[in-house]
Amino acid sequence: MKTVQTIQEMQSLSRSLKREGRQIGFVPTMGALHEGHLSLVRRARKENDIVVVSIFVNPLQFGPKEDFSRYPRDFDGDREKLQRESVDIIFFPDIKEMYPEGFKTYVEVRDLSERLCGAFRPGHFRGVTTVVAKLFNIVKPDRAYFGLKDYQQGVIIKRMVKDLNMDVEIITCPTVREPDGLAMSSRNLYLNPDERRAATIIYRTLLQTSELIKRGQRDGRILKDFMYKNLLSEPLVSSIDYAAPYDPDTLEETSEIKDRVLLAIALRIGETRLIDNMLIMLQ
Ligand code: PAJ
Repeated sequence: MKTVQTIQEMQSLSRSLKREGRQIGFVPTMGALHEGHLSLVRRARKENDIVVVSIFVNPLQFGPKEDFSRYPRDFDGDREKLQRESVDIIFFPDIKEMYPEGFKTYVEVRDLSERLCGAFRPGHFRGVTTVVAKLFNIVKPDRAYFGLKDYQQGVIIKRMVKDLNMDVEIITCPTVREPDGLAMSSRNLYLNPDERRAATIIYRTLLQTSELIKRGQRDGRILKDFMYKNLLSEPLVSSIDYAAPYDPDTLEETSEIKDRVLLAIALRIGETRLIDNMLIMLQ
């Protein structure tokens, strides 16, 4: 396994691998790797000749009051985990390499980037799409893997790839959860033991709401009220950004549930912002 820190070296490696006819699978991450990330790596390993994982905590996608500086970083631990998964290349650039002085170009997917998390984290998805577009140009993957844990991110990346005719297949993979249902996240490391216990309210609410839908409830307003009531019954939930049923394609709130619905939640437990979602299909 090779660690590459410069764009030039990564591009020339990818160029020669492709010339040899090898297919490149790519997993972009911000590190502090857990089983959620590793599930993407394993899928990429199965489907490609070469697996590249990037580790880059992207300052462009953090707001001024967000957790960029305290975001967990553990390169040595990450490297060991990736070694065990037989990853070929880690791309690990620093900030100056990705955003040299004079950087002026941004990629923005309109509308979709303003909904859900976008309404509460202005500029966040512009930061994500800009860095992912750069990473695609650097790594030149045939396939790139994203987790459904960040459902909105996946929808936005797919739109960007389509709109800008990027020659890469986007593959989305299921959310990996802790045994008690909490979606794995690097930010779970911020939770103290009481907060960690309280965080299970998120998945429990998704499950109970999906039960209501399966038993016939189709009224979006009633489902949204139910979700808020459930979440607020947990005293350690300090604020809710959103909790409601959404159209899985447009990401607009739905007032009437049809054949497919996305239940999505973003909230704070203490200071820690957590998100989760569940896609429900009704035949
Ligand atoms: P990060 O939060 O490190 O996540 C990297 C990838 O792992 C994303 O595709 C995310 O959806 C996926 N992932 C995270 N937790 C998961 C879980 N519990 N189950 C399945 N997949 C999970 O998302 C980002 O980084 C950044 O925005 C990035 C795309 C790297 C751009 O900077």
